[in-house]
Amino acid sequence: MSNKFPENFLWGGATAANQLEGGYNLGGKGLSTADLIPFIPKEERNGDNAVQLTSEQFENALNDSSNAVYPKRWGVDFYNHYEEDIALFAEMGFKTYRMSISWARIFPNGDDLQPNEEGLAFYDRVFDELEKYNIEPVVTLSHYEMPVSIVSRFNGWIDRQVIDMFTTYAETVFKRYRDKVKYWLTFNEINAIALAPYNGGGLITDRFENIDQAIYQALHHQFVASAVAVKLCREINPDAQIGCMLARLETYPETCNPADVLKTLKQEQMNFFYTDVQVRGYYPNFIKKYFAENNIVIDMKADDEAVLLANKVDFISFSYYMSFVESAGPKGDRAPGNLFSGLKNPYLESSEWGWQIDAVGLRITLNKLYDRYQIPLFIVENGLGAIDKINEDGSIDDDYRINYLREHLVEIREAINDGVDVMGYTSWGPIDIISVSTSEVSKRYGFIYVDVDNYGNGSFERSKKKSFDWYKKVIKSNGDSL
Ligand code: BG6
Repeated sequence: MSNKFPENFLWGGATAANQLEGGYNLGGKGLSTADLIPFIPKEERNGDNAVQLTSEQFENALNDSSNAVYPKRWGVDFYNHYEEDIALFAEMGFKTYRMSISWARIFPNGDDLQPNEEGLAFYDRVFDELEKYNIEPVVTLSHYEMPVSIVSRFNGWIDRQVIDMFTTYAETVFKRYRDKVKYWLTFNEINAIALAPYNGGGLITDRFENIDQAIYQALHHQFVASAVAVKLCREINPDAQIGCMLARLETYPETCNPADVLKTLKQEQMNFFYTDVQVRGYYPNFIKKYFAENNIVIDMKADDEAVLLANKVDFISFSYYMSFVESAGPKGDRAPGNLFSGLKNPYLESSEWGWQIDAVGLRITLNKLYDRYQIPLFIVENGLGAIDKINEDGSIDDDYRINYLREHLVEIREAINDGVDVMGYTSWGPIDIISVSTSEVSKRYGFIYVDVDNYGNGSFERSKKKSFDWYKKVIKSNGDSL
């Protein structure tokens, strides 16, 4: 096999509406769950992730009755800058752009009888702009947000009626953008609901007596909604491809002690569970055992299992930022990650946010996923969040970002050489956006810098970092020049 990226490899970048768009109350958009997540400075934060809301915080945010700031309301104002931003993506040579549609922009309350035409027209303009440059959109239907009204009235995904609301939304956008979008993803990091239930499923934990039960019931509704979306997508556009999306948590045993290896296997199964359901079409036995041991009972309708089995995804997309370590013994120091955490790995270095950098882990993960499922894989998130320093002349030398990305691309190329079918690579946050876990913009991922701070102050002007020209060269050479 040649050590090259395939000719039609989908190079690009990935964002999510709630972290990028802003315009949270423009064009008839309803409030989304992400609009209510406040920025909390690190010193005041309880733990690393700040994506969980209590009922009190939720109500305060709804009534604007605190002094909190909500950065996802302004994002980086893509809503008003999309032409300029897409032109910059095109200048880098993007073949693809992963983005999400904000459900609340299309159905402000979730169950409106008619979609919001202004919201639909906004994405028409975005897709037309992408088409101008031959950039293929990859669109996530649900990326960490839903109309707030569904949480207020239905308690989020715990209510089975949300499946119908979601599938109406999916059908609406599949039909509207039939000729503009070929690649779809259903739920971003569908496994996130287990650790960040508000973020992933609109569940406010203190509203439930048994939150684990609620999480897996809500997840079941998402699985069914995802399968119905797969079905609709195929009916509406047989040329389209639709995938699932997993936060891949590559996990190593701390030692070769079989007890550590077994513990790690169990941990990995809990990560593969989600793709098992969406790719194989059924709940695996290990999760049934886990449910039985934890008194979790999933309420399923008669044909749910048949729906899951009949509507499996075409490809697997996943995010990869770091790897983890597990041990059967006493717990040592834990290293944080995107909503998840694991033991520290002494062989790895960490980002400024403590995420353990492991490029080889990406090759391992690609091999493991392909061995297990034998369908195409798409890395739709990977990147380094860092504090960028601006030189006096306004330039930004982000060699750390270039190094991180280069090391990971080298390993993807190796995995392709191993025989893994990889469709593409979209680096996370090609333009600076709001962090999901900490709601700050100062954790920057972009090739493009945006002049805005964590409180929304700044000109919102865009400028290129050093990595911009580097990535442009990578794409132009189809990954030969890394
Ligand atoms: C993934 C999410 O978990 O990680 C993205 O899908 C997110 O939405 C990304 O932004 C990076 O995490 P963070 O917390 O640095 O923004």
